[in-house]
Amino acid sequence: MPEIHASMRGIARIYPGPKPVHALGPLDLDIAKGEFFAVVGPSGCGKSTLLDVLAGLSAPTEGHITFEDKPVAGTVPDGIGVVFQEDASFPWLTVQDNVAFGLRRAGTDAAEVARRVDYAIGFMGLRDFAKAYPAQLSGGMRQRVCIARTLVLQPRMILLDEPFGALDQQTRLLMGDELLRLWRETGATVLLITHALDEAAMLSDRVGVMSARPGIFIDLVETGWPRDRDSRIVSDPAFGAVTGRLWSSLRVESMKAMGR
Ligand SMILES: Nc1ncnc2c1ncn2[C@@H]1O[C@H](COP(=O)(O)OP(=O)(O)O)[C@@H](O)[C@H]1O
Ligand SMILES: [Mg+2]
Repeated sequence: MPEIHASMRGIARIYPGPKPVHALGPLDLDIAKGEFFAVVGPSGCGKSTLLDVLAGLSAPTEGHITFEDKPVAGTVPDGIGVVFQEDASFPWLTVQDNVAFGLRRAGTDAAEVARRVDYAIGFMGLRDFAKAYPAQLSGGMRQRVCIARTLVLQPRMILLDEPFGALDQQTRLLMGDELLRLWRETGATVLLITHALDEAAMLSDRVGVMSARPGIFIDLVETGWPRDRDSRIVSDPAFGAVTGRLWSSLRVESMKAMGR
């Protein structure tokens, strides 16, 4: 049995208000240590809600979450890093200062900040842009900055919410390769939320397919890829079988989400 890194039991989230919105669950999920787990589901099914509760950014209405056997409640646990959608970088800071931001705020000493920032910037191929501002970078480069900002915190689990959604297809595939490299070299557990079935199929060990809101897992698909995979897997015949299975699970749910 692989070691469990994060575990959700009976998790549900209802947004209160005059017309409460039942966004998620109840659902159970175990993510193994070192696993690359992707979540796909129709728009509005509760994917971001799932990430928020797992990251401790919002409390579930019901249920219990643990990360490294400790309950998650109220704050982002030490060891979890979150990457949000594009343009989460601070436009008034250089790449270097964007990457250093979290460490400086945590009061890390200057030499350690410099060492870790240098590593993260080098790892993400940003060395030539260290003194540039986000506005001077392409969308793919800005997204590398956001990943470097998380990487510098040395997370043992990385949660990403549709990080490549705004990028063109080629850039998306190449960013996927970067993410695989990061996953392999850091040994971190990854949870990737995406609306792109090909991205989920190409990158992950396992894909969780969510129903229309309130989102629950209706299928869990093991891809069976080797650890040293990359985007060339899209031309493997087995890749079509994985995306086909994802789509057949998702098709009816997507129609429901569209009111069909
Ligand atoms: N703060 C909030 N207050 C009320 N409803 C919300 C809030 N955030 C999200 N929702 C609703 O919860 C549902 C799930 O949202 P979300 O988790 O963002 O879905 P996804 O990321 O899958 O598109 C949607 O119907 C959305 O409108
Ligand atoms: Mg979302």
